[in-house]
Amino acid sequence: MRFSHAIFETKTLVLAGATLVTVAIGGIVELVPLFTIETTIERVSGMRPYSPLELMGRDIYIREGCYLCHSQQIRPMRDEVERYGHYSLAAESMYDHPFQWGSKRTGPDLARVGGKYSNEWHVAHLVQPKSVVPESIMPAYGFLLERPLDYRRIEKTLKAQQVIGVPYSDEMAANAKADLTAQTDPEADTAGLAARYPKAVIADFDGNRARVTEMDALVAYLQMMGTLVKFTDVKPADLKQ
Ligand code: HEC
Repeated sequence: MRFSHAIFETKTLVLAGATLVTVAIGGIVELVPLFTIETTIERVSGMRPYSPLELMGRDIYIREGCYLCHSQQIRPMRDEVERYGHYSLAAESMYDHPFQWGSKRTGPDLARVGGKYSNEWHVAHLVQPKSVVPESIMPAYGFLLERPLDYRRIEKTLKAQQVIGVPYSDEMAANAKADLTAQTDPEADTAGLAARYPKAVIADFDGNRARVTEMDALVAYLQMMGTLVKFTDVKPADLKQ
């Protein structure tokens, strides 16, 4: 007995190796079940993959670094829930690659900003935040109005999302371009879009029907944030399952 213990005390590498094995066992015991238990992510109805326009808006959100000032994760504390609404569920970020939880709040949390303001408010706010919130320190993003949205590769983007596990169907990929433009045109035939992406907000977001801009995509994304799961329908039992 004395001999075996001495090995750990005198040989640093043996001690390091044994420590690693011990810690790894603890890690495996904690992590592996999360990958196998189906209920790691609670099942809630209403979640769907992003519509092509929302997905591109999300890419612009990431490109512009909005996450540096805005989180998308409402914590289950009373002050948060009273200010922002129901705390965020894992299922709500399940199609986010990468997720946008964030840890810095120079501005408010945006997880449930969808539907809080009109499209016009968002455009005015992004063009010049001080025009609607005089004390705002948020930077202006008016150039998004001038930049046409480059959606030539949207079908491929959806297929890439399929590969990493987002349940886009082949039909969704094939219709990606049509769905993207239809979402910015309330007068277009939007039946297919609405069937494929329930609750998608269809509007001429930037007020210019002649073209689809990056502003259209970003506002479409902001307007759907947190709107998919209807929390009056979620019972505590559903969450525990
Ligand atoms: C430098 C930090 C900063 C960056 C970067 C930033 N914001 Fe903000 N944002 C703020 C602050 C501060 C506020 C609160 C004042 C206001 O409403 O303008 C805010 C408010 C908002 C609101 C209103 C939220 C609410 O509930 O009232 C939205 C929407 C928003 N930002 C979207 C964005 C988007 C989209 C981007 C990226 C294009 C972005 N922000 C980038 C700081 C920032």
